[in-house]
Amino acid sequence: MEIAKQCLPDSNRKSLPDESQLGFGMHFTDHMFLMDYEHGKGWHDPRIVPYGPVMLEPAAACLHYAQAIFEGLKAYRGIDGKIRLFRAGDNVKRLNRSAVRMCIPKVDEDLAHRAICELVTVDKRWVPSSNGTSLYIRPFIFANEPFLGVRPAKKYIFCIIASPVAAYYKEGFSPVKIYVTDKYVRAARGGTGEAKAAANYAASLMASEEAKACGFTQVLWLDAAERRYIEEVGTMNIFFVFDDILVTPALSGSILAGITRDSTIKLASGWGMNVQERQVTIDEAIELSQQGRLKECFGTGTAAVVSPVGSLHYKDKDYIINGSKTGELARRLFDELTGIQYGACPDHHGWIETI
Ligand code: COI
Repeated sequence: MEIAKQCLPDSNRKSLPDESQLGFGMHFTDHMFLMDYEHGKGWHDPRIVPYGPVMLEPAAACLHYAQAIFEGLKAYRGIDGKIRLFRAGDNVKRLNRSAVRMCIPKVDEDLAHRAICELVTVDKRWVPSSNGTSLYIRPFIFANEPFLGVRPAKKYIFCIIASPVAAYYKEGFSPVKIYVTDKYVRAARGGTGEAKAAANYAASLMASEEAKACGFTQVLWLDAAERRYIEEVGTMNIFFVFDDILVTPALSGSILAGITRDSTIKLASGWGMNVQERQVTIDEAIELSQQGRLKECFGTGTAAVVSPVGSLHYKDKDYIINGSKTGELARRLFDELTGIQYGACPDHHGWIETI
């Protein structure tokens, strides 16, 4: 299917935001991608159009029953001026896995991948060049059928928007303080935790607001059944260095299969590290911390990249990790990942495509 283009004349395009004030997800490019789905007709009418409001009936199913999923990936302006996309094909595959879980019709993966590339090409002047900035790309699908019965909707919109961004956390690459909650849970096995479902993020808000009000950056989630097994942290997957072993919770069905998580495992294994994907209890992490054997802890995610964790707060106590300083491995992973993304390091894994 051809992607139709209705592009704005240069004179009607917005002025670019100040790159030193980008923040995260506050500015949007000149254009967006749209495609519609209707039962019996399938996905149709892929198009790039000026960024703007989308018409929705008040009865649109997504507003009532949260049939909505999303993805997040980035385009980077390299040190050579070229624009690089990181693992876009993996994001498209995960979008379809989320779609299946939420009873949303899958999209054609080649078309979705092409839509991302074409939108970045049309809006390439929006890919920022300052250190640590990128163009965050947000593909998402939501049900827009006006119908109040509870069943999978018969109409959907697939949309892709893009936003020039800087670091996700105000701390940048400095260690963040994490609150371990045993009061709230994010997802249960058999639920939607593995899907990038919009509703998972709504479910996380109350705990993170309470944590933020107490001075913490994010919440570390434990499993829903026993509140013992570590799952993930806020908008990231979590890693620990126990002695010299890199450990991350195994994908249990309620944890998001992060693409930066997978890149981290592949890079560290390639460096000869012992990497374990297994169940980790909060008690194990605390015990090893008390024995001085929890050497490092960090989160990984597209928005956050690699984010060192300086302390864990659990049951009214703070456990300081690595003197609240960025660890050696977090630094090395951050440098290597961003090196690949900005073209300063060779891409041995085939993760990059240039636009
Ligand atoms: C991402 O890293 O792309 C995420 O999904 C986090 C986002 C919710 C800010």
